[in-house]
Amino acid sequence: MSELHVMEHPLIQHKLSILRDKNTSVKEFREIVSEIASLMCFEATRNLPLEEVEIDTPVARAKVKRLAGKKLAIVPILRAGLGMVDGVLQLIPNAKVGHIGLYRDPKTLEPVEYYCKLPNDIQERDVFVLDPMLATGGSAAAAISFIKQRGCRTIRLMNIIGAPEGVKKVQSEHPDVDIFVAALDEKLNDHGYIVPGLGDAGDRIFGTK
Ligand code: PRP
Ligand code: URA
Repeated sequence: MSELHVMEHPLIQHKLSILRDKNTSVKEFREIVSEIASLMCFEATRNLPLEEVEIDTPVARAKVKRLAGKKLAIVPILRAGLGMVDGVLQLIPNAKVGHIGLYRDPKTLEPVEYYCKLPNDIQERDVFVLDPMLATGGSAAAAISFIKQRGCRTIRLMNIIGAPEGVKKVQSEHPDVDIFVAALDEKLNDHGYIVPGLGDAGDRIFGTK
């Protein structure tokens, strides 16, 4: 069963409070999305498997631990997910990056695909799907389905804010996918926006409104 992890770390919560503030500038918003993505990545990779290897330090032979298991890929959902890419790559610089373009139809709120380019070897990688907002869950559930169609089996979802509706949808359609959020908010409003949320993440990252 999919697990929901709400990251209560004080640094994440403090930074999230700045994102939520409507007076935060585009520059600061973008920087903080990236910082939160780094901190969330640190927490979300806590259970990656390690293997013991032997190396020589300048002083002695030593048994040390290295990441084992499959290599990683990150897949931001365009466009707001792009804001989380650099922060995650700071911690896992060798991860490959795929892109999935989805937008919500403003009337139906259903996701419409307009772009998909994933690494060729995506099926051999563990994947982190990135998107700041999990609202109805339509975009995330569709993105995860695309990635599964390419043969990927280990997928995790990282969102800065989730709504209960979105969590429920992803968990029911993808019970194998763990979800990591910095906050689980109260609800969606009639326009499918998360309440209290932070507004339109894409517009606030790129300054388009
Ligand atoms: C936002 C957000 C998610 C989606 C969440 O993107 O970044 O991708 O909405 O909503 P859902 O859970 O109801 O699918 P949007 O469609 O506004 O596109 P953008 O990233 O290009 O701004
Ligand atoms: N997409 C956003 O950017 N914000 C919301 O609150 C919901 C969907």
